[in-house]
Amino acid sequence: MSTERLISSTPITEVEDQTNWALRPQSLDEYIGQAELIERVLIAVQAVQARQEAKDDTQPREHLEHVLLHGPPGLGKTTLAHVIATELGTNLHVTSGPALARGTDLVAALTRLAPGDVLFIDEIHRLPIAVEEFIYPAMEDFKIDVCLDTGLNARTVQIKCAPFTLLGATTRAGLLSSPMRSRFGLVHHLKYYSDDDLMHIIQRSSRLLQIPTPDHDTLGSIASRSRGTPRIANRLLRRIRDYAQVRHNNEINPQIVDDALNLEGIDHLGLDELDRSYLTTIYKVFNGGPAGLEAISATMNEDSGTLEDVVEPYLLQIGFLARTKRGRQITSKGCQHLGLKPISSEPITSTL
Ligand code: ADE
Repeated sequence: MSTERLISSTPITEVEDQTNWALRPQSLDEYIGQAELIERVLIAVQAVQARQEAKDDTQPREHLEHVLLHGPPGLGKTTLAHVIATELGTNLHVTSGPALARGTDLVAALTRLAPGDVLFIDEIHRLPIAVEEFIYPAMEDFKIDVCLDTGLNARTVQIKCAPFTLLGATTRAGLLSSPMRSRFGLVHHLKYYSDDDLMHIIQRSSRLLQIPTPDHDTLGSIASRSRGTPRIANRLLRRIRDYAQVRHNNEINPQIVDDALNLEGIDHLGLDELDRSYLTTIYKVFNGGPAGLEAISATMNEDSGTLEDVVEPYLLQIGFLARTKRGRQITSKGCQHLGLKPISSEPITSTL
């Protein structure tokens, strides 16, 4: 089965990515939702700016403490990195754990930074261990120890880099080593957005896309299908806009939202074919579970990482799936949603 889904929380195409950019907030002011995080970031940024203003040009530039953001994909970690760099008035450099395969890749990234810049490392949990060791002195003392040559000729040279802010993002905080985690000054978990926040985001995006602002009920019907994720809300809005334009002379109401998204295979909770097929596989093939992720993914011929990172988080969040020590299990709520008879043995606790 294809993993390209309308409700996927990763951008599908380059064009889509560009449209997403146009809808993203540019400043903390414009940012909707994640109120606690925004407040913490605002205080930290303003404090840095005030300290910087108290300095003269001969003193080293102030930098924001290193920031670690974790949470499900699509909740705006990259967007926040851009917003933070803009607020600080510095440059953002974007890279990812897998792209920094060797120590020299990291040296190249670090030596490009100007004082106060933000280095965004996405999927930081995938940083190779050898590279992780290089990054510690860079985070603490803004220097990198590079080992040259081997054997008797081996020597270490120290390269300095500008004081910078490392902004790490991960969907798997549990996979980060504790020395890495402890070097971040500000650590925050991004939560799924409430329907209320999503309604505001859809309202703002409608304005930017020059769509007549949908009424309250219509905004609610789009928000409730957006899986707590702004990127999905914006994607659904664009699909609904096209449908309304072609079939309904641009009118959008809850019925038209329903029809447009039914056509895309998205139900009233925002689940799509892949979610339903995942739950149905556990129910029909594994008798409701518990079943191991690898066994489920082999049965579905689907990548286990995609299931774990993209499909499971929301099903866990809405209580349709339980992760126990013995494997994945469909809940009675999940069965009800699919119109299936609940399986009698419910998991006692969801522990993972
Ligand atoms: N577009 C996408 N995410 C957003 C957010 N958090 N606030 C405002 N607009 C957005």
